[in-house]
Amino acid sequence: MTHMHVAGSIHADVSAPGPQWLTEPKDINALNPSLWSCSVARDASGRLTVGGVDVVSALEREGSPLYLFDEEDFRRRAREFRTAFGGWKVFYAGKAMLTRTIARLVMEEGLHLDVCSGGELQVALTGGMDPTRIGMHGNNKTTDELELALSNNVGCIIVDSLDEIARIEQLCRAHGYRARVMVRVTPGVEAHTHEYIATAHEDQKFGFSIANGQAMVAMVRCHYSPSMQLLGVHSHIGSQIFDTGGFEVAALRTMKLMSQFTDATGVHLPELDLGGGFGVAYTSADSPASPDDLATGLRDIVEHEARAHGMAVPAMSIEPGRAIVGPTTMAVYTVGTVKTVDLDGGGQRVYVSVDGGMSDNIRPALYAAEYSAVLANRCSNETGVLCRVVGKHCEGGDILVRDVFLPSDIAPGDLIAVPTMGAYSREMASNYNHALRPAVVRVHEGQLSPMIRRETMDDLFRLDVGR
Ligand code: LLP
Repeated sequence: MTHMHVAGSIHADVSAPGPQWLTEPKDINALNPSLWSCSVARDASGRLTVGGVDVVSALEREGSPLYLFDEEDFRRRAREFRTAFGGWKVFYAGKAMLTRTIARLVMEEGLHLDVCSGGELQVALTGGMDPTRIGMHGNNKTTDELELALSNNVGCIIVDSLDEIARIEQLCRAHGYRARVMVRVTPGVEAHTHEYIATAHEDQKFGFSIANGQAMVAMVRCHYSPSMQLLGVHSHIGSQIFDTGGFEVAALRTMKLMSQFTDATGVHLPELDLGGGFGVAYTSADSPASPDDLATGLRDIVEHEARAHGMAVPAMSIEPGRAIVGPTTMAVYTVGTVKTVDLDGGGQRVYVSVDGGMSDNIRPALYAAEYSAVLANRCSNETGVLCRVVGKHCEGGDILVRDVFLPSDIAPGDLIAVPTMGAYSREMASNYNHALRPAVVRVHEGQLSPMIRRETMDDLFRLDVGR
């Protein structure tokens, strides 16, 4: 049963001026560098520019709304992770955003790639990614997906269930493959993040529990399978995590498990993957750790645990997705309407409606994710007013930026840019209300190159085959 209540006093937030963390910026046109990709600036006329292209020209050419991907920023972040984690394998987690261009950039920057579906694997392979640098994830890989991975000789399959192990063995027997595998384990960590994106506590679908012994059973099973080479153990505690505490517990429990495996079998497992999940800044309230600090923290933890168990430090890997691609991309929208509403507790809120919404970024609706925004086509001399940037979908929860100060002269026709839209935005986009998903355009040294073209109604009609 759904509990209904009268909107108003029960919604304590509507009478508030905004969340506590949000203060009116001194300069409403300023760009907080921790939120924007490295090449973003304002030109002399006040227009936002990225990669040497101003957003007004970009939208004139490529349409609105638009995702703008900053190539230099992607390369820089990929390189920062690779350098900071020197000696470790860095798998870019393609689920955050993957296109064939991105697969190429991942290759060129010397990273590995984590894919979690047959679709992602095909994008990676057709994008030219070396299959031996790919790790294949998924809690319910189909036989076809496993066959695709094995026949292309992917570097590693991260196994997630006994059913999957049996399926891999069957394929290996039938086709003469030998699978390199890691066992995905659940270290029983309560990661401090939204419950939908926490993945290492017991009551969820991924991996084998360390606590109840299933992890060890799976490891022994893979180790003694003639079809498999067991490389090690994999753990991923969740996403958008800021403190290394969860990784510490995960490292402690996975390394203890590896040492118990050695005691039981006499075999030392060479590899440990601690997964991804490193947080990024969506608003001025977020302060993520740098790759250098993360690397130092994780190295200390792993070395400490290795000493504690008298084992050699395993070959380590991590799988950052959001932390590499999140800040590389902004979304730019065109304002259609501006409406001021009275709040029950007094005060007013300005609703700024744009030409996109939950179909191009579901994260605010799904995880109550916070974002930021600025006026992008000009600077303003006006003061800021608390706004809510909403989309054009037929749904009250269609919010893009819940609370943000925008100039009080914001008007239809203005452009709004939302930073940190690279991870899980286009990748989770939908055609809700038969919206056409926006293009993703790469910007670099003054050039715009489409990575994913804008959808057209013809694209949708191609799928609507009935009459
Ligand atoms: N490795 C594994 C095994 C994963 O499951 C994930 C994310 C990653 C790496 C990459 O995590 P990242 O570094 O990007 O946090 N849609 C959600 C996030 C789901 C994450 C799923 N797994 C969101 O929009 O916040």
